[in-house]
Amino acid sequence: MPGNFLRIFGLATTLVTMGAIATISSGDDVPFPTGFRDWFAVNSMIVTKDSPISSQIGGMHLIYVNAKGLPTLKAGGPFPYPDGTIFADDVHDFLEKDGSYVEGNKKAVTVMIKDGKKYSTNGGWGFQVWAGGDPSKPLVPDAAHATQACFVCHTPQKDQDYTFSTYIP
Ligand code: HEC
Repeated sequence: MPGNFLRIFGLATTLVTMGAIATISSGDDVPFPTGFRDWFAVNSMIVTKDSPISSQIGGMHLIYVNAKGLPTLKAGGPFPYPDGTIFADDVHDFLEKDGSYVEGNKKAVTVMIKDGKKYSTNGGWGFQVWAGGDPSKPLVPDAAHATQACFVCHTPQKDQDYTFSTYIP
C-alpha cells in the first residue's frame, strides 16, 4: 500500500501538501537503477524506531554505488562526484530474532544520480524513490518535490557533495 510507504518515508505530508498525489505515478526522469545489486557495496545502516528519523527513513539501508562514483567515494573526494555517478539505497524491513537483526522484505529503492546541469536546483542530484523497489512505482513527481522530500535532509552534507556515505574498509 503506497500510503503506508509514504508515511514510512515521511513523504506523505510533503507530497499531499504540494498536491502531488494525483500525479505521483508519473515520476520524474530519474531512471530505475537496474542491476544495482551487482554494483559496489558502500555501507549499511539500520534506522530503528528509536531514531528521530525513524518516521522518515526507518529500516535497513544497504547502499550501493556504480563504477563511475567508486573512485571518488574510495578516495573521499575531491568533490563533487562526476556526472553519471549513481547511489542506490536498497531499503528493507528488519526484524529482531533472538537478539539478531535480520533482513526483511524490501520497502523501497532510492536513488541519487549526478548530473550537475540537469539537476542544478538540488545540488546536481536527481532523487527518486520506488515503492517496494518496483520500477513502475516512482513516488517523486519532479525536482521540486525532491527538494522537499529528499534534498533538504541531505543539504547539511554539502561538504561531501550532499551524500552521507563514506567508504568503510
Ligand atoms: C531524514 C533525512 C533523510 C531524508 C528525508 C532522505 N534521506 Fe537519503 N539518506 C539519509 C541518511 C542519513 C543516509 C545515509 C544512510 C547510510 O549511510 O546507510 C542517506 C543516504 C541516501 C542515499 C545513499 C547516498 C548517501 O547520501 O549516502 C541515497 C541514494 C538517498 N539517501 C536517497 C534519498 C532519496 C531519493 C530521498 C527522498 C525520497 C531521501 N534520500 C531522503 C537521510 C535522508
